[in-house]
Amino acid sequence: MTIRSFIAFNLPDPLRRDMRETMELLRESNAQVSWVRVENLHLTLKFLGDVETDRFQSIDEALARICASHEGFPLAFRDLGCFPSLKNPRVVWIGVTGNSALAALQVEVEEAMAVLGFEKEERPFSPHLTIGRVKGPAGRQELVQQIHKHGKKDFGAATVCALSLMKSDLTPGGARYTVLKDFSLKSTQAA
Ligand code: 2AM
Repeated sequence: MTIRSFIAFNLPDPLRRDMRETMELLRESNAQVSWVRVENLHLTLKFLGDVETDRFQSIDEALARICASHEGFPLAFRDLGCFPSLKNPRVVWIGVTGNSALAALQVEVEEAMAVLGFEKEERPFSPHLTIGRVKGPAGRQELVQQIHKHGKKDFGAATVCALSLMKSDLTPGGARYTVLKDFSLKSTQAA
């Protein structure tokens, strides 16, 4: 049996509330976009794909070891943008301004997962929160206008104090994410 999984930082609720308001404004464009449910907003550090369940013990061990050696750190969330570009929006995102702590954690996760046989990501790590996926051309111009109008926004900061191993169920109504296990970073681990 396999579970489609990824490793992520899940956002605290107050940040989600602010993001919801901005997402509502973007929705007004009526563009053909599949908007991410607010409760699903997350920052992915590593997408694992379909994982045989007997591999989870070694994944758990690696994540526990890595997280226990990194202290919690702040991340700032600001501005809206699109991949690959505003001219050709495919993915709508909220920007994540990390620091070297995020990059260091991500590299270690990537390396540890490579040791366990997961293919390394070729593209450089580009931290972002996907808030919507463009599904068609309708309303694209209106969407970009709304992004220009509301795109400069400071959503605030959050402390990364844990990473989560996540399960992704693909349903006709969109992906549903569930936490399989949380891994506390150093400074937040229970004594
Ligand atoms: P995205 O937000 O940029 O689409 C669950 O699918 C999470 O894993 C999403 O955050 C997604 O990133 C990320 N991810 C990275 N590579 C992926 C891939 N090849 N297929 C699906 N999701 C991927």
